[in-house]
Amino acid sequence: MKYEKEINRRKTFAIISHPDAGKTTLTEKLLLFGGAIQTAGAVKSNKIKKHATSDFMEIERQRGISVATSVMSFEYNNILINLLDTPGHKDFAEDTYRTLTAVDSVILVIDSVNGVEAQTRRLMEVCSMRDTPVIVFINKMDRDGKNRFDLLEELENELKISLHPMTWPINSGKEFKGVYNLHNKNLRLFAASTKATEEDTVAIEDLASSVLEEKIGEKDAAVLREDVELIDGVYGALNPADYLSGKIAPVFFGSAVNNFGVKEMLDTFIQIAPVPRDRETSVRTLAVGEDKFSGFIFKIHANLDPKHRDRIAFMRVCSGKFERNTYYKHVRLDKEVRFSNPYSFLARSKDVIEDAYAGDVVGLFDTGNFKIGDTLTEGEKFYFTGIPTFSPEIFKELVNKDPLKTKQLEKGITQLTDEGVAQLFTQFGGNKKIIGCVGDLQFEVIQYRLLQEYGAACEFRTLPFYKACWLTSKDQNKLHDFLRFKQQNAAMDKDEAPVYLAQSEWFLNTEITNNPDITFHFTNEINK
Ligand code: G4P
Repeated sequence: MKYEKEINRRKTFAIISHPDAGKTTLTEKLLLFGGAIQTAGAVKSNKIKKHATSDFMEIERQRGISVATSVMSFEYNNILINLLDTPGHKDFAEDTYRTLTAVDSVILVIDSVNGVEAQTRRLMEVCSMRDTPVIVFINKMDRDGKNRFDLLEELENELKISLHPMTWPINSGKEFKGVYNLHNKNLRLFAASTKATEEDTVAIEDLASSVLEEKIGEKDAAVLREDVELIDGVYGALNPADYLSGKIAPVFFGSAVNNFGVKEMLDTFIQIAPVPRDRETSVRTLAVGEDKFSGFIFKIHANLDPKHRDRIAFMRVCSGKFERNTYYKHVRLDKEVRFSNPYSFLARSKDVIEDAYAGDVVGLFDTGNFKIGDTLTEGEKFYFTGIPTFSPEIFKELVNKDPLKTKQLEKGITQLTDEGVAQLFTQFGGNKKIIGCVGDLQFEVIQYRLLQEYGAACEFRTLPFYKACWLTSKDQNKLHDFLRFKQQNAAMDKDEAPVYLAQSEWFLNTEITNNPDITFHFTNEINK
Protein backbone atom coordinates (compact mmCIF):
# COMPACT_ATOMS: atom_id res chain seq x y z
CA MET A 1 0.00 0.00 0.00
CA LYS A 2 1.47 3.27 -1.16
CA TYR A 3 -0.05 5.43 1.55
CA GLU A 4 -0.21 2.89 4.36
CA LYS A 5 1.78 5.01 6.78
CA GLU A 6 -0.50 8.01 6.32
CA ILE A 7 -3.67 5.96 6.61
CA ASN A 8 -2.54 4.15 9.75
CA ARG A 9 -1.86 7.33 11.62
CA ARG A 10 -5.31 8.83 11.09
CA LYS A 11 -8.39 8.52 13.28
CA THR A 12 -11.49 10.39 12.16
CA PHE A 13 -14.38 10.59 14.59
CA ALA A 14 -17.25 12.70 15.94
CA ILE A 15 -18.46 13.42 19.43
CA ILE A 16 -22.21 13.09 19.70
CA SER A 17 -24.60 13.80 22.52
CA HIS A 18 -27.92 15.21 23.55
CA PRO A 19 -27.51 19.00 23.96
CA ASP A 20 -25.94 19.96 27.30
CA ALA A 21 -24.43 16.56 28.05
CA GLY A 22 -20.96 18.08 27.67
CA LYS A 23 -19.86 17.64 24.05
CA THR A 24 -18.28 21.10 23.76
CA THR A 25 -16.53 20.76 27.09
CA LEU A 26 -15.13 17.36 26.18
CA THR A 27 -14.03 18.61 22.75
CA GLU A 28 -12.13 21.40 24.43
CA LYS A 29 -10.33 18.99 26.75
CA LEU A 30 -9.32 16.77 23.86
CA LEU A 31 -7.93 19.80 22.03
CA LEU A 32 -5.98 20.74 25.15
CA PHE A 33 -4.40 17.29 25.23
CA GLY A 34 -3.64 17.56 21.56
CA GLY A 35 -1.96 20.93 22.10
CA ALA A 36 -4.34 22.46 19.56
CA ILE A 37 -5.46 25.06 22.08
CA GLN A 38 -3.61 26.32 25.12
CA THR A 39 -6.29 27.46 27.51
CA ALA A 40 -9.67 26.26 28.64
CA GLY A 41 -12.59 28.36 27.40
CA ALA A 42 -11.16 28.70 23.90
CA VAL A 43 -13.84 26.58 22.29
CA LYS A 44 -17.15 28.31 22.21
CA SER A 45 -20.18 26.17 22.28
CA ASN A 46 -21.91 26.26 18.92
CA LYS A 47 -25.11 25.19 20.52
CA ILE A 48 -28.01 27.46 20.03
CA LYS A 49 -29.26 29.08 23.16
CA LYS A 50 -32.94 28.71 23.92
CA HIS A 51 -33.82 32.39 23.57
CA ALA A 52 -32.57 32.37 20.00
CA THR A 53 -34.81 29.63 18.70
CA SER A 54 -36.92 32.01 16.64
CA ASP A 55 -33.97 34.08 15.52
CA PHE A 56 -32.39 31.86 12.94
CA MET A 57 -30.02 34.59 11.79
CA GLU A 58 -28.41 34.28 15.17
CA ILE A 59 -28.25 30.57 14.61
CA GLU A 60 -26.71 31.01 11.20
CA ARG A 61 -24.24 33.45 12.66
CA GLN A 62 -23.28 30.85 15.20
CA ARG A 63 -23.14 28.22 12.53
CA GLY A 64 -20.89 30.56 10.56
CA ILE A 65 -18.54 30.62 13.48
CA SER A 66 -18.78 26.90 13.70
CA VAL A 67 -17.49 26.38 10.14
CA ALA A 68 -14.00 26.84 11.48
CA THR A 69 -14.76 24.37 14.22
CA SER A 70 -16.58 21.94 11.94
CA VAL A 71 -13.43 19.89 11.68
CA MET A 72 -10.61 20.04 14.16
CA SER A 73 -7.41 18.24 13.34
CA PHE A 74 -4.70 17.73 15.89
CA GLU A 75 -1.92 15.33 16.75
CA TYR A 76 -1.68 13.25 19.87
CA ASN A 77 1.06 10.67 20.38
CA ASN A 78 1.88 10.73 16.67
CA ILE A 79 -1.69 10.01 15.69
CA LEU A 80 -3.47 12.56 13.49
CA ILE A 81 -6.93 13.00 14.91
CA ASN A 82 -9.71 14.50 12.79
CA LEU A 83 -12.57 15.47 15.06
CA LEU A 84 -15.76 16.36 13.21
CA ASP A 85 -18.15 18.65 15.00
CA THR A 86 -21.87 18.02 15.01
CA PRO A 87 -24.52 20.65 15.70
CA GLY A 88 -26.24 20.30 19.03
CA HIS A 89 -29.62 21.77 18.11
CA LYS A 90 -32.17 19.11 17.25
CA ASP A 91 -33.42 21.03 14.21
CA PHE A 92 -30.03 20.41 12.65
CA ALA A 93 -30.09 16.68 13.41
CA GLU A 94 -29.85 15.83 9.72
CA ASP A 95 -26.50 17.62 9.56
CA THR A 96 -25.32 15.36 12.33
CA TYR A 97 -26.59 12.21 10.64
CA ARG A 98 -24.69 13.11 7.51
CA THR A 99 -21.52 13.90 9.41
CA LEU A 100 -21.74 10.39 10.84
CA THR A 101 -21.28 9.00 7.33
CA ALA A 102 -17.87 10.68 7.17
CA VAL A 103 -16.39 9.34 10.41
CA ASP A 104 -14.85 6.00 11.32
CA SER A 105 -15.99 6.00 14.94
CA VAL A 106 -17.83 8.11 17.52
CA ILE A 107 -17.61 9.08 21.16
CA LEU A 108 -21.04 9.29 22.73
CA VAL A 109 -21.34 11.60 25.74
CA ILE A 110 -24.00 10.77 28.31
CA ASP A 111 -25.03 13.02 31.17
CA SER A 112 -24.88 10.80 34.28
CA VAL A 113 -27.83 12.66 35.78
CA ASN A 114 -30.15 12.54 32.78
CA GLY A 115 -29.09 9.20 31.27
CA VAL A 116 -30.42 8.41 27.82
CA GLU A 117 -32.21 11.39 26.21
CA ALA A 118 -34.16 11.79 22.96
CA GLN A 119 -31.23 12.83 20.77
CA THR A 120 -28.99 10.12 22.23
CA ARG A 121 -31.43 7.47 21.09
CA ARG A 122 -31.71 8.75 17.54
CA LEU A 123 -28.00 9.27 17.10
CA MET A 124 -27.30 5.76 18.31
CA GLU A 125 -29.82 4.39 15.82
CA VAL A 126 -27.79 5.96 13.03
CA CYS A 127 -24.55 4.55 14.44
CA SER A 128 -26.08 1.07 14.74
CA MET A 129 -27.34 1.23 11.18
CA ARG A 130 -23.78 1.77 10.04
CA ASP A 131 -22.10 -0.51 12.64
CA THR A 132 -20.02 2.48 13.72
CA PRO A 133 -17.69 1.71 16.64
CA VAL A 134 -18.79 3.69 19.71
CA ILE A 135 -16.98 4.67 22.90
CA VAL A 136 -19.26 5.97 25.67
CA PHE A 137 -18.16 8.73 28.03
CA ILE A 138 -20.42 9.06 31.07
CA ASN A 139 -20.00 12.68 32.06
CA LYS A 140 -20.77 14.84 35.08
CA MET A 141 -19.80 12.24 37.66
CA ASP A 142 -19.20 15.17 40.01
CA ARG A 143 -22.98 15.51 40.19
CA ASP A 144 -25.37 13.20 41.99
CA GLY A 145 -26.23 10.94 39.12
CA LYS A 146 -28.06 7.68 38.68
CA ASN A 147 -26.75 4.49 40.24
CA ARG A 148 -23.97 3.36 37.89
CA PHE A 149 -25.26 -0.19 37.46
CA ASP A 150 -28.76 1.12 36.73
CA LEU A 151 -27.30 3.60 34.27
CA LEU A 152 -25.42 0.89 32.39
CA GLU A 153 -28.58 -1.19 32.24
CA GLU A 154 -30.56 1.79 30.96
CA LEU A 155 -27.96 2.45 28.28
CA GLU A 156 -27.86 -1.16 27.16
CA ASN A 157 -31.65 -1.45 27.00
CA GLU A 158 -32.38 1.88 25.40
CA LEU A 159 -29.47 2.09 23.00
CA LYS A 160 -29.51 -1.60 22.14
CA ILE A 161 -25.77 -2.03 22.42
CA SER A 162 -23.65 -4.11 24.79
CA LEU A 163 -21.37 -2.11 27.03
CA HIS A 164 -17.98 -2.80 28.49
CA PRO A 165 -16.82 -0.65 31.43
CA MET A 166 -13.15 0.36 31.09
CA THR A 167 -13.07 2.52 34.19
CA TRP A 168 -15.28 2.30 37.25
CA PRO A 169 -16.36 5.26 39.40
CA ILE A 170 -16.11 5.50 43.13
CA ASN A 171 -19.38 7.21 44.07
CA SER A 172 -20.73 10.31 42.38
CA GLY A 173 -21.61 13.89 43.28
CA LYS A 174 -19.94 15.31 46.39
CA GLU A 175 -18.75 11.83 47.31
CA PHE A 176 -17.09 11.23 43.92
CA LYS A 177 -13.57 10.06 44.68
CA GLY A 178 -12.24 9.00 41.33
CA VAL A 179 -12.15 6.12 38.89
CA TYR A 180 -10.49 2.75 38.93
CA ASN A 181 -9.03 1.78 35.57
CA LEU A 182 -10.11 -1.82 35.12
CA HIS A 183 -7.75 -2.36 32.24
CA ASN A 184 -4.54 -0.73 33.51
CA LYS A 185 -5.37 -1.54 37.12
CA ASN A 186 -4.76 1.84 38.61
CA LEU A 187 -6.70 4.38 40.56
CA ARG A 188 -7.15 8.01 39.59
CA LEU A 189 -8.21 10.16 42.47
CA PHE A 190 -10.65 12.90 41.63
CA ALA A 191 -9.26 16.39 41.45
CA ALA A 192 -10.59 19.25 39.41
CA SER A 193 -7.88 20.43 37.09
CA THR A 194 -7.31 21.89 33.68
CA LYS A 195 -4.49 19.53 32.92
CA ALA A 196 -4.36 15.96 34.04
CA THR A 197 -1.11 14.79 35.50
CA GLU A 198 0.16 11.27 35.81
CA GLU A 199 0.91 11.93 39.51
CA ASP A 200 -2.76 11.69 40.38
CA THR A 201 -2.64 8.05 39.38
CA VAL A 202 -1.94 5.29 41.86
CA ALA A 203 -1.09 1.86 40.50
CA ILE A 204 -3.04 -0.82 42.34
CA GLU A 205 -2.25 -4.16 40.75
CA ASP A 206 -3.93 -6.07 43.54
CA LEU A 207 -7.19 -4.63 44.77
CA ALA A 208 -6.70 -6.47 48.08
CA SER A 209 -3.85 -4.06 48.85
CA SER A 210 -4.38 -1.85 51.88
CA VAL A 211 -3.33 1.16 49.76
CA LEU A 212 -6.93 1.22 48.60
CA GLU A 213 -8.21 1.88 52.15
CA GLU A 214 -5.57 4.53 52.55
CA LYS A 215 -6.69 6.33 49.43
CA ILE A 216 -10.46 6.06 49.46
CA GLY A 217 -11.40 4.83 52.93
CA GLU A 218 -12.65 1.52 54.24
CA LYS A 219 -16.24 1.69 53.08
CA ASP A 220 -15.55 2.72 49.51
CA ALA A 221 -12.65 0.28 49.22
CA ALA A 222 -15.00 -2.56 50.13
CA VAL A 223 -17.63 -1.43 47.63
CA LEU A 224 -15.04 -1.04 44.87
CA ARG A 225 -13.65 -4.53 45.45
CA GLU A 226 -17.14 -5.97 45.27
CA ASP A 227 -18.03 -3.96 42.15
CA VAL A 228 -14.84 -4.90 40.34
CA GLU A 229 -15.27 -8.59 41.12
CA LEU A 230 -18.78 -8.42 39.72
CA ILE A 231 -17.70 -6.51 36.61
CA ASP A 232 -14.74 -8.79 35.93
CA GLY A 233 -17.06 -11.79 36.21
CA VAL A 234 -19.68 -10.35 33.89
CA TYR A 235 -17.53 -8.60 31.28
CA GLY A 236 -14.04 -10.17 31.24
CA ALA A 237 -11.55 -8.53 28.90
CA LEU A 238 -12.60 -6.32 26.00
CA ASN A 239 -12.36 -7.97 22.63
CA PRO A 240 -11.31 -5.12 20.29
CA ALA A 241 -12.93 -6.90 17.33
CA ASP A 242 -16.35 -6.59 19.02
CA TYR A 243 -15.78 -2.88 19.47
CA LEU A 244 -14.64 -2.43 15.87
CA SER A 245 -17.71 -4.20 14.53
CA GLY A 246 -19.98 -1.94 16.59
CA LYS A 247 -21.24 -4.76 18.84
CA ILE A 248 -19.69 -3.59 22.11
CA ALA A 249 -19.07 -0.08 23.35
CA PRO A 250 -16.29 0.54 25.89
CA VAL A 251 -17.46 2.88 28.68
CA PHE A 252 -15.51 5.52 30.59
CA PHE A 253 -16.70 7.57 33.57
CA GLY A 254 -15.49 11.10 34.21
CA SER A 255 -16.14 14.78 34.42
CA ALA A 256 -15.29 16.78 31.33
CA VAL A 257 -15.46 20.18 32.98
CA ASN A 258 -12.92 19.00 35.55
CA ASN A 259 -10.84 17.29 32.90
CA PHE A 260 -11.21 14.10 34.83
CA GLY A 261 -11.28 10.69 33.18
CA VAL A 262 -10.74 12.26 29.77
CA LYS A 263 -7.12 11.25 29.31
CA GLU A 264 -7.93 7.60 30.11
CA MET A 265 -10.47 7.67 27.34
CA LEU A 266 -8.25 9.47 24.86
CA ASP A 267 -5.36 7.04 25.48
CA THR A 268 -7.65 4.08 24.88
CA PHE A 269 -9.24 5.81 21.90
CA ILE A 270 -5.94 6.23 20.05
CA GLN A 271 -5.11 2.60 20.75
CA ILE A 272 -8.33 0.94 19.70
CA ALA A 273 -10.29 3.35 17.49
CA PRO A 274 -10.34 2.33 13.84
CA VAL A 275 -8.13 3.93 11.21
CA PRO A 276 -9.88 4.70 7.89
CA ARG A 277 -11.43 1.56 6.45
CA ASP A 278 -12.63 0.13 3.18
CA ARG A 279 -15.94 1.51 1.97
CA GLU A 280 -18.80 0.17 -0.09
CA THR A 281 -19.57 1.81 -3.40
CA SER A 282 -22.27 1.27 -5.97
CA VAL A 283 -20.05 -1.03 -8.02
CA ARG A 284 -17.48 -2.60 -5.67
CA THR A 285 -15.79 -2.46 -2.31
CA LEU A 286 -13.23 0.31 -2.37
CA ALA A 287 -10.06 -0.59 -0.49
CA VAL A 288 -8.81 2.31 1.60
CA GLY A 289 -5.24 1.51 0.53
CA GLU A 290 -5.89 1.92 -3.21
CA ASP A 291 -3.47 4.31 -4.89
CA LYS A 292 -6.16 6.27 -6.69
CA PHE A 293 -7.95 9.10 -4.97
CA SER A 294 -11.65 9.04 -4.14
CA GLY A 295 -13.84 11.02 -1.78
CA PHE A 296 -17.39 12.25 -1.21
CA ILE A 297 -19.19 15.39 -0.08
CA PHE A 298 -21.02 15.01 3.24
CA LYS A 299 -21.79 18.58 4.15
CA ILE A 300 -22.24 21.89 2.38
CA HIS A 301 -22.02 25.16 4.19
CA ALA A 302 -23.46 28.22 2.55
CA ASN A 303 -22.06 31.68 2.86
CA LEU A 304 -24.94 33.82 4.01
CA ASP A 305 -23.42 37.01 2.72
CA PRO A 306 -25.36 37.70 -0.52
CA LYS A 307 -22.25 39.34 -2.00
CA HIS A 308 -20.30 36.14 -1.63
CA ARG A 309 -22.43 33.31 -2.82
CA ASP A 310 -19.70 30.71 -2.55
CA ARG A 311 -20.26 27.66 -0.45
CA ILE A 312 -17.89 25.32 1.28
CA ALA A 313 -18.30 21.67 0.47
CA PHE A 314 -16.79 19.31 3.01
CA MET A 315 -15.20 16.30 1.40
CA ARG A 316 -14.06 13.14 3.16
CA VAL A 317 -11.12 11.46 1.44
CA CYS A 318 -11.73 7.70 1.18
CA SER A 319 -8.66 6.45 -0.70
CA GLY A 320 -5.46 7.56 -2.38
CA LYS A 321 -4.00 11.04 -2.22
CA PHE A 322 -5.95 14.22 -2.91
CA GLU A 323 -3.81 16.95 -4.45
CA ARG A 324 -4.30 20.65 -4.99
CA ASN A 325 -4.69 21.87 -8.59
CA THR A 326 -5.28 18.38 -9.92
CA TYR A 327 -8.23 17.41 -12.09
CA TYR A 328 -10.70 14.91 -10.63
CA LYS A 329 -13.91 13.45 -11.93
CA HIS A 330 -17.14 14.80 -10.53
CA VAL A 331 -19.06 11.56 -11.10
CA ARG A 332 -22.64 12.88 -11.04
CA LEU A 333 -21.91 15.72 -13.45
CA ASP A 334 -19.45 13.64 -15.48
CA LYS A 335 -17.12 16.60 -15.44
CA GLU A 336 -13.45 17.24 -14.61
CA VAL A 337 -12.98 19.63 -11.70
CA ARG A 338 -9.93 20.96 -9.86
CA PHE A 339 -9.39 23.01 -6.74
CA SER A 340 -6.80 25.71 -6.34
CA ASN A 341 -7.51 26.46 -2.70
CA PRO A 342 -8.58 23.34 -0.86
CA TYR A 343 -8.13 23.76 2.83
CA SER A 344 -7.75 21.70 5.94
CA PHE A 345 -8.71 22.58 9.45
CA LEU A 346 -5.69 22.38 11.63
CA ALA A 347 -6.66 23.38 15.12
CA ARG A 348 -9.12 26.20 14.54
CA SER A 349 -7.62 27.95 11.59
CA LYS A 350 -8.12 27.15 7.94
CA ASP A 351 -4.99 26.42 5.94
CA VAL A 352 -4.64 25.82 2.24
CA ILE A 353 -3.28 22.34 1.79
CA GLU A 354 -1.26 20.63 -0.91
CA ASP A 355 -2.52 17.11 -0.28
CA ALA A 356 -4.74 14.96 1.91
CA TYR A 357 -5.15 11.25 2.61
CA ALA A 358 -7.90 8.80 3.52
CA GLY A 359 -9.63 9.94 6.68
CA ASP A 360 -8.96 13.62 6.09
CA VAL A 361 -11.65 16.21 5.55
CA VAL A 362 -10.99 18.89 2.97
CA GLY A 363 -12.93 22.12 2.51
CA LEU A 364 -13.64 22.90 -1.16
CA PHE A 365 -14.97 26.22 -2.46
CA ASP A 366 -18.08 25.52 -4.44
CA THR A 367 -20.14 27.73 -6.68
CA GLY A 368 -23.11 25.39 -6.84
CA ASN A 369 -21.66 22.25 -8.41
CA PHE A 370 -22.00 19.99 -5.44
CA LYS A 371 -24.80 18.28 -3.66
CA ILE A 372 -24.55 16.03 -0.67
CA GLY A 373 -23.35 12.55 -1.55
CA ASP A 374 -21.40 13.67 -4.64
CA THR A 375 -18.32 11.58 -5.41
CA LEU A 376 -14.94 12.64 -6.76
CA THR A 377 -12.56 10.09 -8.29
CA GLU A 378 -9.60 9.82 -10.62
CA GLY A 379 -11.88 8.73 -13.42
CA GLU A 380 -13.81 5.68 -12.21
CA LYS A 381 -17.59 5.92 -12.08
CA PHE A 382 -19.16 4.97 -8.76
CA TYR A 383 -20.77 6.56 -5.75
CA PHE A 384 -20.40 5.72 -2.09
CA THR A 385 -23.34 3.87 -0.60
CA GLY A 386 -24.58 4.19 2.95
CA ILE A 387 -25.21 7.92 2.82
CA PRO A 388 -28.94 7.78 3.40
CA THR A 389 -31.59 10.45 3.45
CA PHE A 390 -33.72 10.21 6.58
CA SER A 391 -37.43 10.83 6.69
CA PRO A 392 -38.27 14.42 7.56
CA GLU A 393 -40.77 15.02 10.35
CA ILE A 394 -42.47 18.25 9.38
CA PHE A 395 -43.98 18.83 5.95
CA LYS A 396 -45.17 22.07 4.39
CA GLU A 397 -46.29 23.14 0.97
CA LEU A 398 -44.12 25.78 -0.66
CA VAL A 399 -46.35 28.56 -1.95
CA ASN A 400 -44.97 31.07 -4.43
CA LYS A 401 -45.98 34.61 -3.47
CA ASP A 402 -44.57 36.29 -6.56
CA PRO A 403 -45.41 34.58 -9.89
CA LEU A 404 -42.85 36.78 -11.68
CA LYS A 405 -40.11 35.11 -9.67
CA THR A 406 -41.08 31.49 -10.33
CA LYS A 407 -37.76 30.66 -11.96
CA GLN A 408 -35.75 32.14 -9.11
CA LEU A 409 -37.85 30.21 -6.62
CA GLU A 410 -37.29 26.94 -8.48
CA LYS A 411 -33.56 27.53 -8.71
CA GLY A 412 -33.31 28.61 -5.09
CA ILE A 413 -35.20 25.68 -3.67
CA THR A 414 -33.21 23.25 -5.80
CA GLN A 415 -29.91 24.65 -4.59
CA LEU A 416 -30.95 24.88 -0.96
CA THR A 417 -32.14 21.30 -0.95
CA ASP A 418 -28.89 20.22 -2.66
CA GLU A 419 -27.13 21.74 0.32
CA GLY A 420 -29.23 19.52 2.55
CA VAL A 421 -31.14 22.32 4.29
CA ALA A 422 -34.38 20.39 3.66
CA GLN A 423 -35.86 17.75 1.38
CA LEU A 424 -37.95 18.56 -1.63
CA PHE A 425 -40.84 16.42 -2.85
CA THR A 426 -43.17 17.05 -5.75
CA GLN A 427 -46.77 15.92 -5.51
CA PHE A 428 -47.37 12.81 -7.63
CA GLY A 429 -48.96 13.79 -10.94
CA GLY A 430 -48.95 17.46 -9.97
CA ASN A 431 -46.75 20.45 -9.34
CA LYS A 432 -47.23 21.06 -5.67
CA LYS A 433 -43.84 21.43 -3.99
CA ILE A 434 -43.59 19.85 -0.58
CA ILE A 435 -40.71 20.68 1.73
CA GLY A 436 -39.79 18.24 4.47
CA CYS A 437 -37.59 19.17 7.41
CA VAL A 438 -36.51 17.77 10.75
CA GLY A 439 -37.14 21.02 12.60
CA ASP A 440 -39.32 24.10 12.23
CA LEU A 441 -36.29 26.36 12.08
CA GLN A 442 -35.38 25.22 8.61
CA PHE A 443 -38.56 26.72 7.18
CA GLU A 444 -37.52 30.11 8.50
CA VAL A 445 -34.07 29.61 7.05
CA ILE A 446 -35.49 28.69 3.63
CA GLN A 447 -37.94 31.58 3.52
CA TYR A 448 -35.25 34.06 4.46
CA ARG A 449 -32.61 32.70 2.13
CA LEU A 450 -34.97 32.44 -0.86
CA LEU A 451 -35.77 36.10 -0.46
CA GLN A 452 -32.25 37.35 0.31
CA GLU A 453 -30.27 35.23 -2.11
CA TYR A 454 -32.75 34.58 -4.94
CA GLY A 455 -35.22 37.43 -4.59
CA ALA A 456 -38.11 34.97 -4.35
CA ALA A 457 -40.89 35.45 -1.84
CA CYS A 458 -42.67 32.39 -0.51
CA GLU A 459 -44.82 31.19 2.31
CA PHE A 460 -45.57 27.77 3.74
CA ARG A 461 -48.82 25.91 4.21
CA THR A 462 -48.79 23.21 6.85
CA LEU A 463 -49.47 19.68 5.63
CA PRO A 464 -50.79 16.88 7.82
CA PHE A 465 -47.98 14.38 7.20
CA TYR A 466 -45.67 12.91 9.79
CA LYS A 467 -43.36 10.65 7.82
CA ALA A 468 -42.05 10.03 4.31
CA CYS A 469 -41.50 6.45 3.20
CA TRP A 470 -39.64 5.59 0.03
CA LEU A 471 -41.40 2.88 -1.96
CA THR A 472 -40.00 0.02 -3.98
CA SER A 473 -41.66 -2.98 -5.56
CA LYS A 474 -40.82 -5.82 -7.90
CA ASP A 475 -44.14 -5.13 -9.58
CA GLN A 476 -43.95 -1.65 -11.14
CA ASN A 477 -47.62 -1.75 -12.17
CA LYS A 478 -48.74 -2.31 -8.61
CA LEU A 479 -46.50 0.51 -7.43
CA HIS A 480 -47.88 2.85 -10.05
CA ASP A 481 -51.48 1.94 -9.20
CA PHE A 482 -50.79 2.55 -5.55
CA LEU A 483 -49.35 6.01 -6.28
CA ARG A 484 -52.35 6.84 -8.45
CA PHE A 485 -54.93 5.70 -5.86
CA LYS A 486 -53.10 7.48 -3.08
CA GLN A 487 -52.35 10.63 -5.03
CA GLN A 488 -53.07 12.85 -2.03
CA ASN A 489 -50.29 11.11 -0.16
CA ALA A 490 -47.92 10.33 -3.01
CA ALA A 491 -44.94 12.33 -4.17
CA MET A 492 -41.62 12.02 -5.96
CA ASP A 493 -38.35 13.00 -4.33
CA LYS A 494 -35.63 14.99 -6.10
CA ASP A 495 -34.21 11.86 -7.70
CA GLU A 496 -37.67 10.86 -8.99
CA ALA A 497 -38.04 8.13 -6.41
CA PRO A 498 -41.64 7.50 -5.30
CA VAL A 499 -42.55 8.41 -1.76
CA TYR A 500 -45.59 7.79 0.43
CA LEU A 501 -46.41 10.61 2.85
CA ALA A 502 -48.19 9.16 5.84
CA GLN A 503 -50.62 11.15 7.99
CA SER A 504 -50.14 8.93 11.00
CA GLU A 505 -48.66 5.68 12.14
CA TRP A 506 -52.06 4.06 11.85
CA PHE A 507 -52.40 4.98 8.18
CA LEU A 508 -48.85 3.87 7.51
CA ASN A 509 -49.35 0.49 9.16
CA THR A 510 -52.63 0.01 7.31
CA GLU A 511 -50.98 0.70 3.95
CA ILE A 512 -48.07 -1.60 4.79
CA THR A 513 -50.54 -4.40 5.65
CA ASN A 514 -52.76 -3.78 2.61
CA ASN A 515 -49.89 -3.64 0.12
CA PRO A 516 -47.66 -6.66 0.67
CA ASP A 517 -46.06 -6.22 -2.77
CA ILE A 518 -44.73 -2.80 -1.91
CA THR A 519 -41.82 -2.20 0.45
CA PHE A 520 -41.87 0.92 2.61
CA HIS A 521 -38.40 2.27 3.49
CA PHE A 522 -37.75 4.80 6.24
CA THR A 523 -34.48 6.00 4.73
CA ASN A 524 -33.26 6.37 1.21
CA GLU A 525 -29.81 6.43 -0.32
CA ILE A 526 -29.13 9.94 -1.58
CA ASN A 527 -27.53 8.88 -4.84
CA LYS A 528 -28.90 6.34 -7.18
P1 G4P B 1 -23.02 20.42 24.88
O1 G4P B 1 -21.91 20.92 24.01
O2 G4P B 1 -23.17 18.93 24.88
O3 G4P B 1 -24.32 21.10 24.67
O4 G4P B 1 -22.63 20.73 26.40
P2 G4P B 1 -21.55 21.71 27.01
O5 G4P B 1 -20.19 21.17 26.89
O6 G4P B 1 -21.81 23.11 26.57
O7 G4P B 1 -21.95 21.56 28.55
C1 G4P B 1 -23.24 21.87 29.04
C2 G4P B 1 -23.13 22.35 30.48
O8 G4P B 1 -22.65 21.27 31.30
C3 G4P B 1 -22.14 23.49 30.67
O9 G4P B 1 -22.63 24.30 31.71
C4 G4P B 1 -20.88 22.77 31.16
O10 G4P B 1 -20.04 23.61 31.91
C5 G4P B 1 -21.50 21.69 32.01
N1 G4P B 1 -20.61 20.52 32.19
C6 G4P B 1 -19.86 19.88 31.26
N2 G4P B 1 -19.17 18.87 31.82
C7 G4P B 1 -19.51 18.85 33.13
C8 G4P B 1 -19.12 18.02 34.22
O11 G4P B 1 -18.33 17.10 34.13
N3 G4P B 1 -19.70 18.32 35.43
C9 G4P B 1 -20.59 19.35 35.59
N4 G4P B 1 -21.08 19.54 36.82
N5 G4P B 1 -20.97 20.14 34.58
C10 G4P B 1 -20.43 19.90 33.36
P3 G4P B 1 -23.43 25.64 31.41
O12 G4P B 1 -23.77 26.20 32.74
O13 G4P B 1 -24.56 25.37 30.46
O14 G4P B 1 -22.40 26.49 30.62
P4 G4P B 1 -21.15 27.25 31.18
O15 G4P B 1 -21.69 28.52 31.66
O16 G4P B 1 -20.54 26.42 32.26
O17 G4P B 1 -20.28 27.38 29.98
